[in-house]
Amino acid sequence: MAFRFTTSRLTPRLATRAGLTTAVGLSVYRAPALRTMSTQTGAKKSGSNTALFLGLAALGGAAGYYYHNSTHSLAPQKTESKPVDYEQVYKDIADILEDNDYDDGSFGPVLVRLAWHASGTYDKDSKTGGSNAASMRFAPESEHGANAGLKVARDLLEPIKAKYPGISYGDLWTLAGVVAIQELGGPTIAWRPGRTDGVSAQSCTPDGRLPDAGKKEDHIRDIFYRMGFNDQEIVALTGAHALGRCHTDRSGFDGPWSEQPTIFSNEYFKVIAGRKWVKKDLPNGGWQWVDKNSDTTIMMLPAEISMYNDKAFRPYFDLYAKDNDRFFEDFSKAFGTLMELGVPFKGDEKVYRFKTTNA
Ligand code: HEM
Repeated sequence: MAFRFTTSRLTPRLATRAGLTTAVGLSVYRAPALRTMSTQTGAKKSGSNTALFLGLAALGGAAGYYYHNSTHSLAPQKTESKPVDYEQVYKDIADILEDNDYDDGSFGPVLVRLAWHASGTYDKDSKTGGSNAASMRFAPESEHGANAGLKVARDLLEPIKAKYPGISYGDLWTLAGVVAIQELGGPTIAWRPGRTDGVSAQSCTPDGRLPDAGKKEDHIRDIFYRMGFNDQEIVALTGAHALGRCHTDRSGFDGPWSEQPTIFSNEYFKVIAGRKWVKKDLPNGGWQWVDKNSDTTIMMLPAEISMYNDKAFRPYFDLYAKDNDRFFEDFSKAFGTLMELGVPFKGDEKVYRFKTTNA
């Protein structure tokens, strides 16, 4: 796990902003301050809406579940009349991305994972799941194995939610994914608000809708076809693994996919194509792929090498390894689609294409 990024290894832009945010930002989002802030928020709101919630919960037959996370309000979220300044929300999220004490120096990757796991539960046939209800706030979905570690990301965003009560959690989480990708050097992603939060565990999706990294390419196809994606889109989306890392205490896997896990680029495709992969057994009984000729902690998941070795997937891996512009174009479209799966837009929502904070 000795793959930590120091400020000096970030891009000049990130390094500059890291200097700014460590001075200003940390007191806003360090865990103790965050807990205090979000508990207060939750207490205030649930106090004024307790009767309403109890009624809804009883009507909804949610008695078999329990409300898991006391840091979140139980009331319907879109009750504020004040319009939300999404441009400002973008900037506020950008301001809290960096922390030299967290992973490789940025919360960006875990925010991208939150946005994707909130959205990737969609089932096109039953039209259930997706980011609309922000159902990962509730157990059992918050406790699904695939979502291990995402409380970090949900809690990080609580002060932003407190500052902009009119934004729904679904809008906040998907917007945070867009901010992270763009601020870490990725493509512009069209985004629009319009998600309304669910009020109870009734909106939770069943376990098993997100991919299992220990399985093979057929499983990955089943999962993404269920959302409505094709092979090219699946490969493009997986390129998000240029960012971030695996954590032994979350997925059981260990290490990053690229040498620069806080920079969004087509590096993932270059790495998977350019190295010789060998199996490595893990202390927890599992295994992953590691680079045979290097002592870095760079890794690939079992499912990823299965995908890479699949005849229909491979051409897209090769395409994106060679052509970063094409990757950005295809990723931007597919990620934009992913964020909108199952969201009942009215049709008149403004579509935002945010400028990055260094633009
Ligand atoms: C092929 C299907 C996929 C599989 C099997 C998979 C699996 C995983 C696993 C096992 C982790 C490590 C979690 C941890 O231990 O912290 C992870 C992290 C991550 N995934 Fe995926 N994933 C897939 C697709 C995607 C997609 C479609 C996106 C976004 C578009 C994405 C974005 C990320 C990011 C950014 C991280 C890093 C999180 C962090 O650093 O905390 N993944 N993924």
